[in-house]
Amino acid sequence: MSEGQKVHVNVLSKEFNVNPYPYYKLLREADPVYWSEETRHWLLTRYEDVQAGLRDASRFSSQSSSTFAVREDFIPHIMPLLRSFSQWAVMKDNPEHKRLRGLINQAFRPENIKDIHGRTQQTADWLLDQVIDKGEMDFINDYAFALPATVFGSILGLDRSDLPTVKKWSVELAVATGRVDSLELMLKGQESLLQMSSYLEDAIKERMERPREDFLSFLVKAWREENKLTLEEVVAQMVMLLAGGHTTTMNVISGGLLALFKHPDQLELLKKSPEIMKQATEEFYRFTSPAQAPTRIAACDFEIGGKEIKKGQGVMPMIASANRDPAVFERPDELVLTREKNPHLGFGNGNHICPGMFLARVEVPVAFETLLRRIPDIRRKSEDEDWNMNLSFRGLSTFPVCWG
Ligand code: HEM
Repeated sequence: MSEGQKVHVNVLSKEFNVNPYPYYKLLREADPVYWSEETRHWLLTRYEDVQAGLRDASRFSSQSSSTFAVREDFIPHIMPLLRSFSQWAVMKDNPEHKRLRGLINQAFRPENIKDIHGRTQQTADWLLDQVIDKGEMDFINDYAFALPATVFGSILGLDRSDLPTVKKWSVELAVATGRVDSLELMLKGQESLLQMSSYLEDAIKERMERPREDFLSFLVKAWREENKLTLEEVVAQMVMLLAGGHTTTMNVISGGLLALFKHPDQLELLKKSPEIMKQATEEFYRFTSPAQAPTRIAACDFEIGGKEIKKGQGVMPMIASANRDPAVFERPDELVLTREKNPHLGFGNGNHICPGMFLARVEVPVAFETLLRRIPDIRRKSEDEDWNMNLSFRGLSTFPVCWG
């Protein structure tokens, strides 16, 4: 199809979620700045435009960006959810973004992530110890989620026994951010948000009485002594970290393994040459793009790709499409673990670039190195693929694997 021809792509459909890449190709070629009626956002699909959408705050604002497209009749039902979203750093422009981001960055200061590699390695081994004799696992629950959740939970100072509940809340909340078209899913996300917030408030109150050596205690100190945040803001940032950090890392670990199964030569290469692990995992971020569709709002009227964008309209820089743009990546739809040039946008770009990428860049390589060393004959139990229906955080919901 050539540029200018009319195309229709429903990014909220099941077909799109199962495999969005042919649709991205169609849009990049035929309508690279596309008005999506279903999401009421402009979709940017070419690398150059996506990069601009992520980094140029003078045209693409983040202020309350994911909440504004909510249908008006939903609003009275989901006020607590919208209130929390509107306080997340990811939905702020400067100067407020800078203030909140400064504190989030502290989470990843060396004293808060002491021996993170060792802790991650220990957790990966412990998780595999739990399942190795069984000959099978649900890769999502037992490993891809459990690993980042346990490691980040330990940075925050959460109890390991709370993690399954935290996972349920994180996933339901992440779904709500990606499905503003569904009141049912948003209400479910809101319920999780309320429970998670009350759990975090209790944990914070506990730290106020008995400070520990963890990130929560640090935030409490900043909140009380330096007066930099309100308690509500502290809780909102924690909720954002839990909703965003776990789901993305889980999706890159599970999506990366699925991609390896579909590229058996690359799987063999990685088993034989673990020294390429860092480079290989950069390719997983490009190939799986778990944060595929962040949101922005046009800060002024402007033109891009021949389209007139009006101030206040919603825009989605589609990271997953940029990461497959042939203008930048050779053989974009192939997993090439030794790719030399890989300027992927998997962690975003500009002011909002992912503050958790340092952590992900420790967790994901350790996850694969440990898995392939300890279970080299791991394989899929079924050819079926159980993709979630989440535009913002695309990933598998379940992933049964076996060995032996
Ligand atoms: C492979 C894993 C991950 C991927 C692919 C990823 C991706 C992204 C992307 C694309 C953004 C930019 C969003 C935007 O521009 O609107 C972002 C922001 C963010 N990420 Fe991640 N992320 C990952 C892991 C994590 C982890 C482990 C954490 C924390 C534990 C985290 C916390 C955040 C936060 C707080 C923001 C908002 C930053 C801001 O607005 O200044 N992420 N992430």
